[in-house]
Amino acid sequence: MERRAFGRTGLEVPAVGVGTWKTFDVRGKGAEADARDRVSEALEPGSSFFDSSPMYGQAERVLGLALEGRRDRAMVATKVWARSTDEGSRQIERALRFYGGWVDLYQVHNLVAWREHLPVLERLRGEGSARTIGATHWSPSAFHELAGVMRTGRIDAVQIPLNPWEREAERDILPLAEDLGLGVVVMRPFAEGRLMRRPPPPGALAPLEPFGVRTWAQALLKWILSDPRCHVAIPATSRAGRTRENAAAGNPPWYGPEERELVARLAGP
Ligand SMILES: NC(=O)c1ccc[n+]([C@@H]2O[C@H](COP(=O)([O-])OP(=O)(O)OC[C@H]3O[C@@H](n4cnc5c(N)ncnc54)[C@H](OP(=O)(O)O)[C@@H]3O)[C@@H](O)[C@H]2O)c1
Repeated sequence: MERRAFGRTGLEVPAVGVGTWKTFDVRGKGAEADARDRVSEALEPGSSFFDSSPMYGQAERVLGLALEGRRDRAMVATKVWARSTDEGSRQIERALRFYGGWVDLYQVHNLVAWREHLPVLERLRGEGSARTIGATHWSPSAFHELAGVMRTGRIDAVQIPLNPWEREAERDILPLAEDLGLGVVVMRPFAEGRLMRRPPPPGALAPLEPFGVRTWAQALLKWILSDPRCHVAIPATSRAGRTRENAAAGNPPWYGPEERELVARLAGP
């Protein structure tokens, strides 16, 4: 798996990571063991970056369990998602317990109360319990505010959606991230799975075979990762085998403009 410089943070991230929204929000021994299997499947090819949040129900806890005994082989990105710093501090205390005392990327989820949380995250970074800090938003309507937070110079990374149906980040956020040297995490690579519902007809992916692409999921991930301003894409899956399939898209060669255009066309409007 290709590893990429995460902006100017000094960290390197694998090109394909793992999202945990819905897929890791599970309870019970059987489902927790399945989550551990998904993590094993990811770690084996080097897909070792996991994104979570207190907004995702049980996901932070289940990810922590799944990493038991191998936390140092993984990078954990999680978030604070709270209206108050009191609630935020409780979330942080819990997360640090789940993840062996440190988080690799601590983000303000959807910019909720970011002015309150940012000083707390800066303190964590200063103490070493957050290696880097960032901010996320899923909606282009918040990109103006997100750009303002980026320009403060206080964060190291952003997390935004990008796929052939959601390209708004290309306009301002990606150029700004590049100028400022911020790490970029790409959420929703499959538009929450909607892009997978009408895969292209058999044979349509043939021109992408020289790029190591065998499946529609891989074609889409490679479309994202062929933009060098994007460092790590974080698809989520609950199914055995798919984590490995997604991880395989994290290796060169990368598309040129023609292949990117083909994938955008195949994705349709
Ligand atoms: N900060 C935010 O506001 C925010 C918002 C949204 C997401 N996120 C983060 O981004 C991550 C990813 O986004 P997402 O979960 O919304 O959606 P996504 O990764 O775009 O899509 C997930 C869907 O794709 C399917 N899928 C995954 N791999 C596949 C494959 N190889 N072949 C066919 N289908 C496949 C999964 O179904 P199966 O389970 O059946 O495989 C699932 O339904 C989240 O988990 C979360 O960590 C952050």
